[in-house]
Amino acid sequence: MKMIEIKDNVIAINTKGTSLIFEIKDFHYAGDDPKNKRKIALQNYFGKRMGNKTNETPLVINDFGSNLDYVLGDTISSTFGWNNTEPSLLLFNGDGTYVNRFFFVDAVVRKGPKEMEGPHARDVAETLEIIEKDDVLDLELHHYYSVFEDSDVIVVKKELVNKGKKPCSIRKIASLETHLPTNEVTIYTYDGSWLYERFRHENKLKDGTFSTGSIVGSSSHKHNPYIEVVDDKNGTIYGFNLIYSGNHKETVIANQQFDTTVMVGINDFAFDWLLEPGASFITPEAIMLVKDNQNELTKEMHNFASNHVIRAEFRNKERPIIYNSWEGLMMTINEENLLHSAELSKQIGVELFVMDDGWFKNRSTDTTSLGDWFVDENKFPNGLSSLSKKIKSLGLQFGIWVEPEMISFDSDLFRNHPEYAQIVPNRNPTLRRTQLMLDMANPDVVDYLYSVLSSMIEDAKPDYIKWDYNRYLIDPYSSTGIRCGEYMHRFIMGTYELIDRLVSKYPDILFESCSSGGGRYDLGMCYYMPQVWGSDNTNSYTRVFINRGTLTAYPQSTFGAHVSTDGGSDQRRTSFDDRFNINCIGAFGYELDVRKLNEEDLKLFKKQTDYYKKHRSLIQFGQYYVIDDCFDDDRYYSFALIGKEKEEALLVAIEMRKDVPSKKWKLVGLDEKATYEIEVREQKNAKSKQFAPLSGKYLMENGLDLGQLSDTNDKEEYPRGISSRMVYLKKIN
Ligand code: DGJ
Repeated sequence: MKMIEIKDNVIAINTKGTSLIFEIKDFHYAGDDPKNKRKIALQNYFGKRMGNKTNETPLVINDFGSNLDYVLGDTISSTFGWNNTEPSLLLFNGDGTYVNRFFFVDAVVRKGPKEMEGPHARDVAETLEIIEKDDVLDLELHHYYSVFEDSDVIVVKKELVNKGKKPCSIRKIASLETHLPTNEVTIYTYDGSWLYERFRHENKLKDGTFSTGSIVGSSSHKHNPYIEVVDDKNGTIYGFNLIYSGNHKETVIANQQFDTTVMVGINDFAFDWLLEPGASFITPEAIMLVKDNQNELTKEMHNFASNHVIRAEFRNKERPIIYNSWEGLMMTINEENLLHSAELSKQIGVELFVMDDGWFKNRSTDTTSLGDWFVDENKFPNGLSSLSKKIKSLGLQFGIWVEPEMISFDSDLFRNHPEYAQIVPNRNPTLRRTQLMLDMANPDVVDYLYSVLSSMIEDAKPDYIKWDYNRYLIDPYSSTGIRCGEYMHRFIMGTYELIDRLVSKYPDILFESCSSGGGRYDLGMCYYMPQVWGSDNTNSYTRVFINRGTLTAYPQSTFGAHVSTDGGSDQRRTSFDDRFNINCIGAFGYELDVRKLNEEDLKLFKKQTDYYKKHRSLIQFGQYYVIDDCFDDDRYYSFALIGKEKEEALLVAIEMRKDVPSKKWKLVGLDEKATYEIEVREQKNAKSKQFAPLSGKYLMENGLDLGQLSDTNDKEEYPRGISSRMVYLKKIN
């Protein structure tokens, strides 16, 4: 069945579960010459799948007549005079006005995508291109809607082409504008700060505007680009995201009379792009999806990210267990203490040993050396290559930390090239963590970084690179004369170019995106870097919320998730067993001083890694279903990871405090006709326990009685901590 059909005045996109329908209407202004026929494109419907064929689609078209100079419909490029809401496109034209009128010209279906620079969806099946034109301004607006064989996600972007003789200034160009058939919605956003990323917030909206986003140069800890909009009348849930890591904005407008408008794209804050004659501008790609419930939405979001965003080299590749030196050793690292830590890491079952910050020239505090990506010979007298070889000879992979987009005042790079730093003339620069940012919009900076990082890679031969980014962009400025309204976008495009060049040259290196923890967790980064550092907070209590918030949109295989000793800044201590149960869901690892662990802990960690390896594929690639949602009731969180054929499952059950009543834990997503063997993971004070086999139906209807989970924890040692169990289920018939 064709997914995109154009018939008469109807254009229909039908994926398995979604329909997006447009109609093309005759239109003219009062005073227009009636012979001068114009057409406009309207979005007629976006939602759950309608009929099987285009002509079964019930087209109830807004009949506004043909002689009105305004439209009560959902134009696909709303602007002054079309809809009466905030537009997705704002142009300051060469004729000195803000007014534009884009009329429909043509619609075509192309195989594959419309190519673009920067991150974008992979393996597109077909793309619908709707072309509109403003004859007065001589501007063409192209709308691209891409679909996939195996997904209900629709990917949307716009391109503005200046065919005229005057430049035009783009003040706003959202990638996506769509209209939902409801005007009472609840919007869920995922927000936070350093150490508290992606906590879910609920926002009720009835007749008004809601807007969120980022203006700090990155997708940020503050507001993730992923949002959900729920139709309050029937629970239908719409999910939106952006394949982009820079400033973003999500706007939802509930209109009293008609519908809800959603816009997603580059933030228009301080955005002003001069489109010269002959030039074109392509927006980042946004994604839209509709489902009946949260778990179904998450499932499809995960599949889309896994199959259409992550690089092919890592798509189904199991991620290694990491040891990272930061929390344990900070910048005191040297060859001796790292090799000792590597030996112990090997002993506990780690597979990839990562040397974090502190390895390069004079870097013993965070006030210095960013930009000088050369080894510190005092700490590593034998060089990087020798360290890497020694670590690899222990049977470990070797990983290294960098923070390429930054520069320290105290660095050779700054002494030699002060013009590479973002410093606004006649002003003192804003420092964060005592560092400045490099001007990634300057091609010379990208070339320098490409060359110095390539040399480091050739020398150290890392299997993994952690790419950090520890501040926000506050002084947008380039000594090359780039217009300030274009800076934020050009900055991130420069970063993408650098990463793209490195990833193309070294496709097998596993890159992990990090930004003071999880400050750049977005599909743009996931496009290049198959893993993202979830957060600097590894405290299990807080981590529950971070896990729940992150996994709603991003699959476990992308989610760097670690056990550490001190649990970050949050002092609610928890047992190592609970930390493992909660923190291992994702690309797992340890961040601690492994040399300080006692024999008992070393053995416990070995058991954890053995367990993780045994169930790694299920943990990293199983389908994630929330059962008890901590955002709805902060006493419990439970979820299941279900194998592709429902042949196995892992239940993680968590009591968030000591004083909560015990409960039965109901499974979700099992085969109700099958029988499952059930085994509770062994913990320090709780022997492994087997239940008599139970049917999927019983497990989903009645649930599993695991008793009071906190009974096994030492109440003195962990007075306020949370308690958890991990249960493995295997289908036996
Ligand atoms: C911030 C990261 O989130 C940490 O994991 C660590 O890499 C430090 N930066 C190093 O400076």
